[in-house]
Amino acid sequence: MKAIVYYKYGSPDVLELEEVEKPTPKDNEVLVKIHAASLNAYDWHLLRADPFLVRLMGGGLLKPKNKILGADIAGRVEAFGINVKQFQPGDEVFGDTSGCGSGGFAEYVCVPENALALKPANITFEEAAAVPMAAVTALQGLRDKGKIQSGQKVLINGASGGVGTFAVQIAKSFGAEVTGVCSTKKLDMVRSIGADQVIDYTQEDFTQNGQRYDLILAANGYHSLSDYKRVLSPKGIYVMTGGSMAQIFQAILLGPWISMAGSKKMGALTAKPNQKDLVFMKELIEAGKVKPVIDRRYTLSEAADALRYLGEGHARGKVVITLEHNNKT
Ligand SMILES: NC(=O)c1ccc[n+]([C@@H]2O[C@H](COP(=O)([O-])OP(=O)(O)OC[C@H]3O[C@@H](n4cnc5c(N)ncnc54)[C@H](OP(=O)(O)O)[C@@H]3O)[C@@H](O)[C@H]2O)c1
Repeated sequence: MKAIVYYKYGSPDVLELEEVEKPTPKDNEVLVKIHAASLNAYDWHLLRADPFLVRLMGGGLLKPKNKILGADIAGRVEAFGINVKQFQPGDEVFGDTSGCGSGGFAEYVCVPENALALKPANITFEEAAAVPMAAVTALQGLRDKGKIQSGQKVLINGASGGVGTFAVQIAKSFGAEVTGVCSTKKLDMVRSIGADQVIDYTQEDFTQNGQRYDLILAANGYHSLSDYKRVLSPKGIYVMTGGSMAQIFQAILLGPWISMAGSKKMGALTAKPNQKDLVFMKELIEAGKVKPVIDRRYTLSEAADALRYLGEGHARGKVVITLEHNNKT
């Protein structure tokens, strides 16, 4: 099969399109013929081993442990191991393979069945591939860590990116009043996916405008912890999903102290991929409450360009890789 492989950490230039052996499913695994994969900052960090911690957290100390990147996939079940109970050949599935070694930038991948769910029936493979990591991160940030409630004032910083476009729509589905923060060119898109208010961060600093929020999800840090603390309502919650190392350490080390010392809660999220949340997202999508936003589509051989674009940090929703056989079905 064709796959995008890398043997050393570096820029997207180290990626190569190669013919590699098609994988065979183990007893608990499903072989998926991939129709589309989506890119995440996760792939960008694993490609460059940046931050360095990536090497210590299973990425591979001197060189990448897993040669094929790509966490998010959507495709068709082609075969499965003897212990697989939930899927049949031909089933349309989607999932996050980051917990089992990735491998989505390829024509096929083997995945434990509990990393997959049936694809939402009302969207394409490309749209389904856009969902898993970004949407589950947004969901866990808002619902589990953020304890979102109907009627709350929720601010999403980084509302126009992968995590942010899902976060805006998920927060709306919980009945929140949502403010999305993004750059000028993306204001209309963020409004169109349901944000009640939008703030252009190039024109206005939301940490200085006197507004207070019950819940803030920061797709990236962008501001100091003390700025976020100031704009939280008295019992407000701040959840950070990403940011610079300094911002992440601030949230991890200082967040618990601030949370213990007062009524505001602050901290960082480490999202955990799981089947239950994939099914939750499938239901939201099928109910018409969430629709993936796709920015650009690339072919498998253009994966390096796709990652270069993602690495610029200004995607409008999600960046997707479409496999050749997707266009034949
Ligand atoms: N903790 C976890 O488990 C977990 C899971 C998934 C992802 N993450 C992290 O979450 C972060 C976001 O991921 P993503 O997929 O959403 O990334 P992304 O698709 O690259 O989006 C980044 C967004 O940030 C916005 N942005 C850039 N500068 C900004 C600023 N100064 N103020 C407000 N927004 C700004 C950009 O919007 P404009 O173009 O409008 O500037 C862009 O839409 C990444 O750091 C990723 O590593 C963490």
